[in-house]
Amino acid sequence: MLPREVLQAISQADLPCIVYDGATVKQRAQSAASLLDRYYFPVKACPEPGVVRAALATGCGLDLCSAGDVEIASAVGCPGDRWKFTSPCADDRLLRRLCEAGAALDADSIEQALRWGSCGGQACGLRIAARRPKALYGSKFGMPARDIVAAAGQLANAVLRLEGLHLHDQHANLAPAEFALRLAEHLAEVSREVLRACRYVNIGGSWPMRHGNPASPDDLRQGLKLLRERLATLGFHGMLYGEPGRWVVGPCGYWAARVAAVKAHPRGEHHRVVVLDTNTPVPCRPSLAPFVVLRQGDLLQSPRRLFCDIFGSANTALDSIGVEVRLPVLEPGDVVVSVAQGAYTRSLIPPFNERDRPAAIVLDCSCP
Ligand SMILES: Cc1ncc(COP(=O)(O)O)c(C=O)c1O
Repeated sequence: MLPREVLQAISQADLPCIVYDGATVKQRAQSAASLLDRYYFPVKACPEPGVVRAALATGCGLDLCSAGDVEIASAVGCPGDRWKFTSPCADDRLLRRLCEAGAALDADSIEQALRWGSCGGQACGLRIAARRPKALYGSKFGMPARDIVAAAGQLANAVLRLEGLHLHDQHANLAPAEFALRLAEHLAEVSREVLRACRYVNIGGSWPMRHGNPASPDDLRQGLKLLRERLATLGFHGMLYGEPGRWVVGPCGYWAARVAAVKAHPRGEHHRVVVLDTNTPVPCRPSLAPFVVLRQGDLLQSPRRLFCDIFGSANTALDSIGVEVRLPVLEPGDVVVSVAQGAYTRSLIPPFNERDRPAAIVLDCSCP
């Protein structure tokens, strides 16, 4: 559950910290790349330069969605022709910079696509909004599938090639076959003529992770085969791109924090309230993945007799890290490690209560 090097790093670190296992990042990014024609690692999922470098070592591209992401891509030495940008927020200066670097764009609207053309772009993709979006941000991103045909006409008039379609929605709680069928259902709403002419379809991220467990590469391979077959019946024979973040990097991070308090719980003697000395992400969702306890650098092996509600120490309404987690009898000063915290944990922790964010430690993956 806790690789030896991770345990060693945690026992030598100032706490709280998040340790990222670079070798696993690389191996999981390779796995994602093997399922697709092109994999773009979404920097937002974990912008630690060491983690981004570990993903890049597989030859993948980067999915960028802000000027800050572009800075990180530059800083880690990723060539511009491996950048792909998607965001409704991009001024002409940023579009020009992307264009000059040789980046690809999945435009968020027809207006943005036309501005891309006036900034020097010759081709782009268009992002589709799912008709009944499951993502928490609803219909904020992209454009309705039914408008794509008219948009393709406008792009042609502006001598801009429509080369792909992009569709990201929330699929984390689906099985791989359901994921594939939902994507196919949305893409079936696009005019066949447009779909047939596209070079790629980008299926975004949020890959199946039911109950917090990433779907296996084999099950995903079957699901994506089904998707390719469905798309072929719609006339699409191009390439499948994707940009899963949590599926790749989630399992690679270990969040370690010291126990600040262990208290009685209103639910009785078998329950405890455990408060850790760490700020928490906003939003913070209780983890479904395992927790371990360390005492003086070693795993505490005693039986897990207590049901613990684990909190951070931010004075926000929501800083629950774990609910009813089975743990051994623990005491202040012990270290609790929450596994599978590699995605969207550290980057979403604010400096609330004037606390520093947990330190980031990236274990080398021996990248070039
Ligand atoms: C466009 C796009 N691509 C990829 C991702 C990565 O999603 P995840 O980390 O859930 O796989 C996101 C996340 O919000 C996104 O908005």
